[in-house]
Amino acid sequence: MLLCIPHVLSPEQAAQARQHLDGASWINGSATAGHLAARVKNNEQLDPANPVAREIGGMILQALSQNPLFLSAALPLRILPPMFNRYGPGQTYGFHIDGSIRNIPGTPVRIRTDLSCTLFFSEPEEYDGGELQIDDTYGRQSVKLPAGHMVLYPSTSLHQVTPVTRGTRTSAFFWLQSMIREDTERALLYHLDTALQALIADHPEHRSITALTGTYHNLLRHWAEM
Ligand code: NI
Repeated sequence: MLLCIPHVLSPEQAAQARQHLDGASWINGSATAGHLAARVKNNEQLDPANPVAREIGGMILQALSQNPLFLSAALPLRILPPMFNRYGPGQTYGFHIDGSIRNIPGTPVRIRTDLSCTLFFSEPEEYDGGELQIDDTYGRQSVKLPAGHMVLYPSTSLHQVTPVTRGTRTSAFFWLQSMIREDTERALLYHLDTALQALIADHPEHRSITALTGTYHNLLRHWAEM
C-alpha cells in the first residue's frame, strides 16, 4: 500500500528546516550506496553525523510519533534516523530496490526495512522532474508532494527518482520495521482502523464498537512481531 501523509511538518517547520538544509555542507551520495545502486545513483547527501541531519531528523520522528495516520498505517516497531538527499539539474537515482537489512548507526541493532518514507522539503513548483516513481500492485505511481508532506510505501517496491531538469529537490528519506511484516495484513488493519474511527466519530454509542475494537486488537495480536 502506498500512502501520502499530508502535513507531517507544519509549513513553518518545513521552511525553517529547509533554511538549515540549504546552508549545510553536502557530500556525494554514492558514498552510501551499495555497489549495484551506486551505478544508478547520482545525488548529494548529508553526512548522517551532521548536526543539521540529527536535529531535523529528530523533529521528523517527534512529529511522526504523534501522527495518527502514520501510526495506523505503518504500525512502526523501529524507525531508522532520517537521512537527507538533494538532486540538482541532471541528477537522478535510477530504478532500484532498497537494501533489506540496515544497521541503526552507532548500535549493533539491525532492522528489516518493511516501509520506505520520503518527506519532501521542496515545493513542487520549485523544480521540474525529480518525481518519485514507485511500481506498486496497481502500476506505476508518480509522487511529488508539497514541502512537509510524506509518502510511505513498501520497501519491496521497485522505484526511482527521475532526473531533475530545473531547480533543486531536497528531501528526507528513511526506513522502518513494522510490527506487521506483510503489507496485505498491515493494509487490512489500516482499513479496519480507519472504518472504526469513522464509526466512532459518527455513532459514538454504536453497540458494535466494542466488538470491532476487540477484533482489531485480536488481529494485531495475532500478526504482530516484536
Ligand atoms: Ni531507494
